[in-house]
Amino acid sequence: MSADDKTTGDEHGDEEEAGRVVSWRAGSVGLAALDTDDAELLLGWRSDPLIAHHMGIWPRPLSAVRERVERYVDDDERDDFLVLLPDGTPVGHVALTGQNMVDGTAEVELMLAPGERGRGLGTAVLDAVVDLAFGELPMYRLTAETHADNAPALAVLTKSGFTREGTSRAACLHRGRRHDIAVFSLLRPEWDELKRPRAWDA
Ligand SMILES: CC(C)(COP(=O)(O)OP(=O)(O)OC[C@H]1O[C@@H](n2cnc3c(N)ncnc32)[C@H](O)[C@@H]1OP(=O)(O)O)[C@@H](O)C(=O)NCCC(=O)NCCS
Repeated sequence: MSADDKTTGDEHGDEEEAGRVVSWRAGSVGLAALDTDDAELLLGWRSDPLIAHHMGIWPRPLSAVRERVERYVDDDERDDFLVLLPDGTPVGHVALTGQNMVDGTAEVELMLAPGERGRGLGTAVLDAVVDLAFGELPMYRLTAETHADNAPALAVLTKSGFTREGTSRAACLHRGRRHDIAVFSLLRPEWDELKRPRAWDA
């Protein structure tokens, strides 16, 4: 079962926002299932040097990104969402990947469009998808990885309650240089202990 199956048409009540069905909402953050026509947006964001640097993705032709998004949509082990502002403006991509319903594990991936960073949105989106994973899916352990020098990502993961488990040394090659990867996790009992309102309280 995917997060999308679980949320679409359920008691949360889907909302239309600028022509998109918002299947999950947390305060001002709306999540809409990613679709193939979003490939152009992803391509633009992935061309941003900061995203290319931190996520290890370099520009590809639109056709290749469309095919990749099609694979995402077909993949039962991942759920991909476009992040929408209240007026429907798409501002990022967040995903729960590698979902294992037996072990209750998944990985979180997040990127915000250039110009949308540094004003608290990253934390709000991460909290929203964490609440989806623990509140609607039987996840027990969420993980996230980022370059060990990605200060905003380290700050956002820590603010959302993740614990740094360690460092995968020299795990990533970028521009001819090896980078350490910081590995984070959040367990269900730790999420239970968080004092912040949940997505459904907002
Ligand atoms: C990582 C990312 C999602 C963070 O989202 P964001 O909206 O920019 O972050 P926020 O505004 O929520 O910032 C959260 C915290 O990070 C801190 N922070 C932001 N930029 C920072 C920087 N350059 N250095 C240190 N701390 C920083 C903020 O001060 C804030 O902490 P505070 O509320 O205690 O002041 C976003 O920057 C992004 O999409 N980056 C490109 C892709 C990427 O790196 N993804 C993660 C890899 S998987």
